[in-house]
Amino acid sequence: MSLDQFISDMPKVELHLHIEGSLEPELMFDLAQRNKITIPFKSVDEVRQAYNFGNLQDFLDIYYQGMSVLQTEQDFYDLTMAYLRRVAAENVMHTEIFFDPQGHTERGVAFDTVINGITRALNDGHGQLGVSSNLIMCFLRHLSEEKAFDTLKQALPHKDKILGVGLDSSEVGHPPAKFERVFAEARKEGFLVVAHAGEEGPPEYVWEALDGLKIDRMDHGNRSLEDSGLVKRIVDQGIALTVCPLSNLKLCVVKDMQQHPLKKMLDLGIKATVNSDDPAYFGGYMTANFNAVAGPLGLSRSELLTLTKNAIDASFVSDADKARMHQRVDKFALSA
Ligand code: ADE
Ligand code: ZN
Repeated sequence: MSLDQFISDMPKVELHLHIEGSLEPELMFDLAQRNKITIPFKSVDEVRQAYNFGNLQDFLDIYYQGMSVLQTEQDFYDLTMAYLRRVAAENVMHTEIFFDPQGHTERGVAFDTVINGITRALNDGHGQLGVSSNLIMCFLRHLSEEKAFDTLKQALPHKDKILGVGLDSSEVGHPPAKFERVFAEARKEGFLVVAHAGEEGPPEYVWEALDGLKIDRMDHGNRSLEDSGLVKRIVDQGIALTVCPLSNLKLCVVKDMQQHPLKKMLDLGIKATVNSDDPAYFGGYMTANFNAVAGPLGLSRSELLTLTKNAIDASFVSDADKARMHQRVDKFALSA
């Protein structure tokens, strides 16, 4: 079996995916038309050409603009279903999906519209495509603590649909400490907690996410490698990192894939995983992300399997579900 085939057929688990970042330009145009919204692009090609980013903020500006076409419950359903169809075709068994409610409530779309559309699709995706999922609500860190508290309050009636909370958007200038009290409240309410840390922000932000927010899992975490004490803490605590190779390349977190820290993380004993982040903006879904690093980093098949097994272990599912997914990977490994 070729390496391409191996990566394509390998059962996968995704732990870092912003559902709004899976909005493909084609669907953006369809929804703009359906909702009579003007977007500043004439064609799908023109949209793709605009996807050249010098840093995280360049991307976020376009990402928040893109999501303005999402208006109705059906729009959120269609967005989520399109993502699930894509990943089902890539042998993704399970996915843990972020959504950014404040990206919608801030422009007048009701919280319930968003959550009801997404969860209806997640239920259908499980039934029709066999992809299981968990939902994680992110606070936008460039907005205030007060607004995060307000968002947490809006989520409480939907605890049956939301498993965890996260922290995303513009990192530098918005350290985890800003949200320590919101996260404490979220944990008290029973939510699991994750946070983007060390994507662009310094190792101090990663320490804060661990000590202040008490995260169960870390999103990105690349800059942790600059601090050996921090690496030791991450390894000792068994904190998994949801790493996003194509995102890191497109947002200039790494210069080229040969310099991507994924293999170094594995060598250091960090539980690293591979994820797509915002696949419609960064050039691909799970398979594309594995392909992007496998060659340049010279990853062995055993390392690729470790990455998928790390994701199973770091997922927020029951031990029985983890065991079932491990069995599927073991069966694949024997036949590959
Ligand atoms: N929101 C969507 N994608 C993000 C990323 N990679 N970092 C921070 N916020 C985001
Ligand atoms: Zn992200």
